[in-house]
Amino acid sequence: MQDDAPRVIRIRPVGRPVGLTGPAARADWAAAAGEGGDADAETIGHVERVCAYAEVLARRLVGHRRFRGTVTEAFVRRLGVAAALHDAGKAALPPALLRKPARLTPAEIVIIRRHPTLGAAAVERLLAGHPDAALRAMAAEVALTHHERWDGDGYPHGLVGDAIPISGRIVAVADVYDALTSARAYKPALPHAAARAEIMAGRGTHFDPAVVDAFAAAEPAILGIAAAAVASITGRDAVRIAA
Ligand SMILES: [Fe+2]
Ligand SMILES: [Fe+2]
Repeated sequence: MQDDAPRVIRIRPVGRPVGLTGPAARADWAAAAGEGGDADAETIGHVERVCAYAEVLARRLVGHRRFRGTVTEAFVRRLGVAAALHDAGKAALPPALLRKPARLTPAEIVIIRRHPTLGAAAVERLLAGHPDAALRAMAAEVALTHHERWDGDGYPHGLVGDAIPISGRIVAVADVYDALTSARAYKPALPHAAARAEIMAGRGTHFDPAVVDAFAAAEPAILGIAAAAVASITGRDAVRIAA
């Protein structure tokens, strides 16, 4: 995605502290999210983009009256890395379930929905001993809360509104936008305009209105990240994103 992104992903042993900033740190964290080091290119691409989107969204919220003293430049930098571990809990789920090329059954959805709780525990283990306590706490809170919804219909705890940490609310928008604009085993990628419409439709229901407003304001930067990422994968996907 970035010019200086490493070509080879270095896998760090589980439990060893990882770096804090920059593309190399993100790649380390993406690899760590696979715990055993088996994170595939699709997972790493998703993690890299979610980090980049989350950072752009958070930066738009610096100085916002609702987040004064919370969303600071230090918060933005931490979130750009902490977001890499948002799906760490998926490493504990059966790979065949994660890559199932069809809609999930209700029983399978119950299993998938365990990943935030599993992820928060995994993050505590991965980052035990990491010197930045605020980063440790943020990474665990993002893993736990990125599937909560503003209206309380999310999981695992059905938290409502401001009870959801702002880090989780930001990553929720970043994560859904990337999921919509990425091809998966069971669905094609949506073009940006359609994904944007879905994010807008979720304003005040799925998502914090302030984060959706940040998404709208940051649209050129979001599109730039998406286009740069897919251009490095396949020409066909790049065309889809640009459409
Ligand atoms: Fe997730
Ligand atoms: Fe995700």
